[in-house]
Amino acid sequence: MGKFENQWLSSVTRRNAVRSLVTTFAGGSLLRGQQDPFRDHSRIPGMEELVNAFDFEAVAFAKLPRDAYNYTALGVEDEFTLRRNRQAFEWVELIPRGIADVGSIQTATEVLGTKMAFPIMIAPTASHLSLHPEGEVGTHKGATAASNTPYIISNNASMGLDKIGKAATGPIWFQLYAKEALDDNRDAIERAQDAGCTAVVLTYDGASGESLTGPRERVLHDRHLESRRLEQDASAGGDSSRAAQSRRARRPRKYGLAGNAIGLDWKFVESVRGFCKVPFLTKGILSGEDAQACVEHGVNGIVVSNHGGRAMDYGPATLEVLAEVVDGTQGRIPVLIDGGFRRGTDVLKALALGAKAVCLGRVPRWGLAAYGPAGTQRILEILQGELVMAMAAVGRSSLESINRTLVRTDF
Ligand code: FNR
Repeated sequence: MGKFENQWLSSVTRRNAVRSLVTTFAGGSLLRGQQDPFRDHSRIPGMEELVNAFDFEAVAFAKLPRDAYNYTALGVEDEFTLRRNRQAFEWVELIPRGIADVGSIQTATEVLGTKMAFPIMIAPTASHLSLHPEGEVGTHKGATAASNTPYIISNNASMGLDKIGKAATGPIWFQLYAKEALDDNRDAIERAQDAGCTAVVLTYDGASGESLTGPRERVLHDRHLESRRLEQDASAGGDSSRAAQSRRARRPRKYGLAGNAIGLDWKFVESVRGFCKVPFLTKGILSGEDAQACVEHGVNGIVVSNHGGRAMDYGPATLEVLAEVVDGTQGRIPVLIDGGFRRGTDVLKALALGAKAVCLGRVPRWGLAAYGPAGTQRILEILQGELVMAMAAVGRSSLESINRTLVRTDF
């Protein structure tokens, strides 16, 4: 057992544990700074001290229980796709325009009727209550405070849509996992529309939960750390709660499919689309061929996504396939993208390769876990500010002026 786990298990106080987490976790510049022997390592930095999105992950790591942090961070199996999503940004160079008027930078846009001050949205992610007591309500408040950033609420949100929708005024969309009975999909969509969601996003990738996606193996390897809770469940006479079920599901599985796989076909998708009075998007598209099929079957928009490396391993980075997907739509429907976006320059690269907007998955989770709604707001504002600076640096003052001539790609 490593130093990290040992300290976690045997720590006398949580403060010590937090200190050891912050100082042993390798990564961003904040963490390197924390290793400076002349600094007080037990201090959680104030929000204004954080410089970039990566810094928030270190604070989230220090503040969250281990399983909540793991749930956010990990990918499936070898985590190739998780790493590749980030690596791909290094394979795209920005070629600046020498002489350009960048006195005022225009970033406002509109996607399927939803206005946004920046081409940046919050991707659907589950269980925000595991990050902060305000949960999804906190995310929505933080997003609204950050220039009305649109928030796509997960089908697996830990709070009711009604409550989240009423918490703030910024735009909300709803993400749907297909349910076997068509009526269940209609009910979910109607509830979302009633709560004020102005678009529905059907997720393909990871839709089958435990049945088709690989396991997050780092969690399996860590399961001994949860043994106390498993014992408590057993002594409580067999806990059938969702949390206990999910802990059981994380135990090693036999080969083969679990019973809850849903076979999606286009007839089914068209029926689901028929329930929507608002625009209908699909999430999880990674090829031009799939993009073309979406257009042919009346889908109104696409999210290029590999579920942040959490659904299937050895898929490509989303940035790598973005141009192909955009070409597949022949410009007939807007293409959004997520996967590894942490910087304003990341957003700029995706816009250059044809994305209409970019969605952030882990980034707002780090903000919420670190400092609550104010953290979500701040981390979004950092990316918004970085995007403005990046546009100025490359001499493109409007979204319309950003196109493929801005980038040189190595893939
Ligand atoms: C997700 N994602 C996700 N997607 C979805 O459609 N419904 C969901 O409930 C969830 N839940 C979820 C939980 C967690 C913890 C993560 C990290 C991700 C995928 C998400 O929408 C998005 O595709 C990725 O998170 C994008 O990658 P980055 O930005 O996290 O690197």
